[in-house]
Amino acid sequence: MRALVTGGTGFIGSNLVDRLLADGHDVAVVDDLSSGHNRSPHASLHVMDIRDPALVDLAQTWRPEIICHLAAQISVRRSVADPRTDARANIEGTINVLEAAKRGGARKVVYASSVAVYGRPAVIPVPGGAPTDPRSPYAASKLSGELYLATYRALHGLEYTALVLSNVYGPRQSPQGEAGVVAIFTDALLSGKPTVVYGDGTQTRDYVFVDDVVDGFVRACGTAGDGRRFNLGTGVQTTDRELHTLIAEAAGAPDEPRFEPPRPGDLPAMAVDPAPALDGLGWVPRHDLPSGLKATIAWARES
Ligand SMILES: NC(=O)c1ccc[n+]([C@@H]2O[C@H](COP(=O)([O-])OP(=O)(O)OC[C@H]3O[C@@H](n4cnc5c(N)ncnc54)[C@H](O)[C@@H]3O)[C@@H](O)[C@H]2O)c1
Repeated sequence: MRALVTGGTGFIGSNLVDRLLADGHDVAVVDDLSSGHNRSPHASLHVMDIRDPALVDLAQTWRPEIICHLAAQISVRRSVADPRTDARANIEGTINVLEAAKRGGARKVVYASSVAVYGRPAVIPVPGGAPTDPRSPYAASKLSGELYLATYRALHGLEYTALVLSNVYGPRQSPQGEAGVVAIFTDALLSGKPTVVYGDGTQTRDYVFVDDVVDGFVRACGTAGDGRRFNLGTGVQTTDRELHTLIAEAAGAPDEPRFEPPRPGDLPAMAVDPAPALDGLGWVPRHDLPSGLKATIAWARES
C-alpha cells in the first residue's frame, strides 16, 4: 500500500509512520514541522503546509492509495484566542487534503477527529452515535473536517473513516502542549519539577495508548469502516489524582501535586465507548493504563 501521512512527524503521526513502514508499506509524509520533528528516515518527508497547492501536485505524482490526515492545529486554547488560524489549518487544510486525495486518485482518507466534537456529553462513556455539540473553534473545525469527508464521499466517491480520538498518550508526546497531561506529569516527575492538578483532582479523562490508536488507523486503511466514524478510547475514566499517583509510582517520584483552581471551560468528565470500533474495525484497546504508562516512562527516561 502507498500511504501518505499528513502530520507524520508529530506524536501520533510518527508512531503511525513507523508502524506502516514496519508492515512493509510505502510511506510519504507531509508536515510543515511546526511542532513535529523528522524521525523516520525511511519515509520520504515533504516539508509543506497542508494548505499548499503543491500537495495536490504531490498526490498526482506519488498517487497514494490512502491518506491518513493527522496534521492540525491541536490547541483548544489557541483556537479560542485565534479562531481564524485554527480554521485555516483545520478546515482549509483538510479541504486541500481532500482535493489532493481526489485528484491523486486515492481510495480513502482516514481522519483524526477529536472527542471535542461531543462538547459536554449527556452520557459517558459517549456512545458511537451520540450527537455532536462543538464548544470551541477547535471542536468546530475538527467537526467541519468530518462534514467535508462526508461531502467528498457523496460527491466524488472518495471513501473515509473518521476516528474520534480520546486522550492519546505514549512515547514522543510533547510535554509542551496543553492536552498531554501524561507527558506533562511524566516530564515533571522525572526531573523533580513541581506538578499541578487543576480543581480537586476528580476531573476524569479516557487515556488511550498511542500504539492502540495507530492500530485503529492501520485497520481503517483497509475497506473496514468505510464512510463511518468510530470512537478510539477505552471507555475507562481516570481521575487526574489517580493519574498523578500512577505516574509518580512508576517514576519513583513523590505523589504530591499542588492543587490550583479549576480552569474555565475544562470538562468535569470524559470517556468514549469504543464498542462500535470492535464491530466496525475489529479494534479493541489492548494496553491498560499501567502498562502504557510503563512504556511511556521508559521512553521518557531514555530520551
Ligand atoms: N493527542 C491527542 O490526544 C489527540 C486527541 C484527539 C485528536 N487528536 C488529533 O490527532 C492529530 C495528531 O495529533 P498529535 O497529538 O500527534 O499532534 P502533534 O502536534 O504532535 O502533530 C501534528 C503534526 O502536524 C503538523 N502540522 C501542524 N499544522 C500543519 C500544517 N498546517 N501543515 C502541515 N503540517 C502541520 C505538526 O508539525 C505536527 O507534526 C491531530 O489532528 C489532532 O487534532 C489528537
